[in-house]
Amino acid sequence: MADDLRFPDGFFWGTATSSHQVEGNNKNNQWWAWEQAGGNIKDGTVSGVACDHYNRFAEDFRMSREWGHNAHRFSIEWSRIEPEEGHWDEKEVEHYRRVLESLHESGLVPFVTLHHFTNPVWFEEMGGWTNERAPELLGRFAGYMAEQLGDAVPYWLTINEPPVLPAASYIAGVHPPAKRDFGLAMQAARHILMSLGTMHNAIREKAPHDPKIGPVINMTYAVPASDSEEDKAAARLMDQYWNAYWLDGIRDGVIGAPAGDGEEVPGLKGAWDIVGLNFYSRSVLAAGRGVMGLRQVAPSPDAETSTMGWEVYPEGFYQSMMRLKGYDVPVYITENGIGTDDDEQRISYLVRHFNQVHRAITDGVDVRSYLHWCQQDNFEWAEGFRQKFGLFATEEGTLNRIPKGSAHFFKDVAENNRVPGELVEKYVR
Ligand code: GAL
Repeated sequence: MADDLRFPDGFFWGTATSSHQVEGNNKNNQWWAWEQAGGNIKDGTVSGVACDHYNRFAEDFRMSREWGHNAHRFSIEWSRIEPEEGHWDEKEVEHYRRVLESLHESGLVPFVTLHHFTNPVWFEEMGGWTNERAPELLGRFAGYMAEQLGDAVPYWLTINEPPVLPAASYIAGVHPPAKRDFGLAMQAARHILMSLGTMHNAIREKAPHDPKIGPVINMTYAVPASDSEEDKAAARLMDQYWNAYWLDGIRDGVIGAPAGDGEEVPGLKGAWDIVGLNFYSRSVLAAGRGVMGLRQVAPSPDAETSTMGWEVYPEGFYQSMMRLKGYDVPVYITENGIGTDDDEQRISYLVRHFNQVHRAITDGVDVRSYLHWCQQDNFEWAEGFRQKFGLFATEEGTLNRIPKGSAHFFKDVAENNRVPGELVEKYVR
């Protein structure tokens, strides 16, 4: 029989969400406009009222607490706070103050993301991340939030998943503005990396306390499809763009390949106290004619996948955490989870991924949280509502939160700060 997996005292267990996916009625951002245009969301849905979390946040937080969680990650919707350039909406600032108060009252430690995929329409219209003013504008927004709400925020997460932004919006063309232009993608990648510095420094300057600040990187574990030198080179290139460009960029304060040639960015070097890690899957790469000479190989038919088509590959989670060890900043798992209609698969996925977190901690990685994606089923971007990542279902029509088996399982783990040996035996061995 396998031993229980015990986690360090003070470990954070909870869930993560993002404003546009759960709040509802975020009408001032580029996603809303893109959804309304029609034809852009795979299942034909739009975010609409989403989970109505904007009005139900207090119940949601009480629910998390009752279900054993001690932390929660959410994002502040920039387009609510700054609906027009330079114009701050104080009513919305008050809204997020109430959100933070409610988290504290519920006994949940807040992790606050400042940018999670959505841009105010005015920013998008000026070219969004491709505009060279982006680092200044994002820094200003971050500083404003730190000044307004900083007394209630112990953990600030600046930008969610920097590598996804240029890739999805300007390479794959599956997020707005849905372009396929490598030059624009690289411009965006430069400005996003620079913004990680300006945002960090603005928060540091304006926050009244001494919060922990960092980016949220969604690492992929990039492996070659074969032993050929060409495929290995493709995997290295993927790793450089997806992981190293950001991680080494912050550590060294430089813009490296593929968006720069190592030029220094003042204020960027070491602009992280912590690093958020989102992990979902691995990437298998082959040399090809795609962008940068990369071809991503689909999982083999016998591989376990999610309804997103992503391969379940827990070993890659461990490898990513081990990789972060080398950067010597505390690691917070800010997202991990699976889109599936089979909740038993979710439990199995979770046990296998918790096992890797435990293994990484045993091997010396300073991992301090596991925030599951997501609390409740929600608007999964270009996939729509069809994808189910929640521990809770969101009932159609009533929007009631209905606990799944995985919510019960997660409660037991979180409350006891351990994964029972019998489940390790069942799902890992
Ligand atoms: C992440 C993203 C989340 C959520 C999740 C599941 O990339 O940060 O917003 O959509 O993936 O696909």
